[in-house]
Amino acid sequence: MSTKKELYHKLQKRVESQIANERDWLANLSNCAQLFGKLVPDVNWIGFYLFRKGELVLGPFSGNPAVTRIQLGKGVCGTSAESGKAVLVPNVHEFPGHIVCDIISQSEIVVPMFWEGRLLGVLDVDSPLLNRFDLEDKEGFERVIQVILEGTNWSEML
Ligand code: SME
Repeated sequence: MSTKKELYHKLQKRVESQIANERDWLANLSNCAQLFGKLVPDVNWIGFYLFRKGELVLGPFSGNPAVTRIQLGKGVCGTSAESGKAVLVPNVHEFPGHIVCDIISQSEIVVPMFWEGRLLGVLDVDSPLLNRFDLEDKEGFERVIQVILEGTNWSEML
């Protein structure tokens, strides 16, 4: 079993090589969602909600079909998008306003994505285990997201 340090290093390298020859935002987010789904352990849903016309809209993901629209300030995703900060939820049943997508989810982390000061969306990760995510996961996902942000052309999405 690999450590979280090894996991996020591997994820970063895999993302770098996956998007090396492509800058299209939809192609890159789609491949990254699938890579995350295959490589990150103890996760039942992982993917992106994109900020479009003032709300979060479901983007590429790996997992069961999910709620398609989330208002800013609502749920874990909307809270993270509104505050511009990552949100770690050790127990989703104790988070006021948590939006249930998959009843097996027990804990969650949401990391916002910004490009040139503008909100692009969030990465949302759900786990069937309680207390699955910590600061190492937050920093690991933030680093991987940075690779995606820098390797992708966002002008066509905005
Ligand atoms: N739980 C999220 C909703 C999205 S699903 O987990 C995929 C939230 O509270 O924002």
